[in-house]
Amino acid sequence: MSEAERGQQPQDHREQERHGHAHPVFDRDYWEDRYGQPGRAWSGRPNAALVAEATALTPGRALDVGSGEGGDALWLAARGWQVTGVDISQNALDKAAASAREREDVDPEQLSWQQADLTTWSPTRASFDLVTAHFMHLPLVDRERLFPALAEGVAPGGTLLVVGHDADALPGGAGRHGDPGMLFTVDEVVGRLSPDAWQVEVAETRPRDMTGPAGDVWHVADVVVRATRRDG
Ligand SMILES: C[S@@+](CC[C@H](N)C(=O)[O-])C[C@H]1O[C@@H](n2cnc3c(N)ncnc32)[C@H](O)[C@@H]1O
Repeated sequence: MSEAERGQQPQDHREQERHGHAHPVFDRDYWEDRYGQPGRAWSGRPNAALVAEATALTPGRALDVGSGEGGDALWLAARGWQVTGVDISQNALDKAAASAREREDVDPEQLSWQQADLTTWSPTRASFDLVTAHFMHLPLVDRERLFPALAEGVAPGGTLLVVGHDADALPGGAGRHGDPGMLFTVDEVVGRLSPDAWQVEVAETRPRDMTGPAGDVWHVADVVVRATRRDG
């Protein structure tokens, strides 16, 4: 989740105490509370994997799921994309829309924001030239529904980009992000894409340096899968 994890650990501990669970519960209340705090939860910068994988794409219609405060959506819009950001948190979407209004390189008309729960919501079939999901960590049962639904949302010739934390490279271990079962592997994402329908362009675990709250640098890695939907 971009460099933007600053502040996450203390927040996690507070949530843990509030819910009384071994892991925080990442439900709508959690995210509304988190984005309801003053200031930013994340850095506001686009994720490194998005910049690496989408810079060469021809702008069209993009869907960013789990769009948060809009760092990725705004970057895409500034490059000419028409972007829909979907998030469970209305507070996050409001912050993203406010950022869009402040940006001179973005026309707010290029962006639309939709509050929805991705455990049940699906994009319209073949309606986006890019569907991107960064750090959209959900339990396996929800990923089993969501990832194919996101793939269905990609138009022929379009791109699916799925990025997550690599469990083996997280400081503090996968449990720091809740139930370790929330994280996924390259093989899981690729395994959901039929070779008849998809050309897998990138499927790797990519090292990345992340700066912590005190300026300390963590060596992490991202699961990165980019695939192109075949025509027809
Ligand atoms: C780890 S953050 C990543 C935010 C952003 N994509 C980024 O990379 O900085 C996960 C995002 O997914 C959203 N989210 C979590 N569960 C969700 C759900 N069930 N439906 C929709 N959005 C959800 C959260 O509100 C949050 O903005």
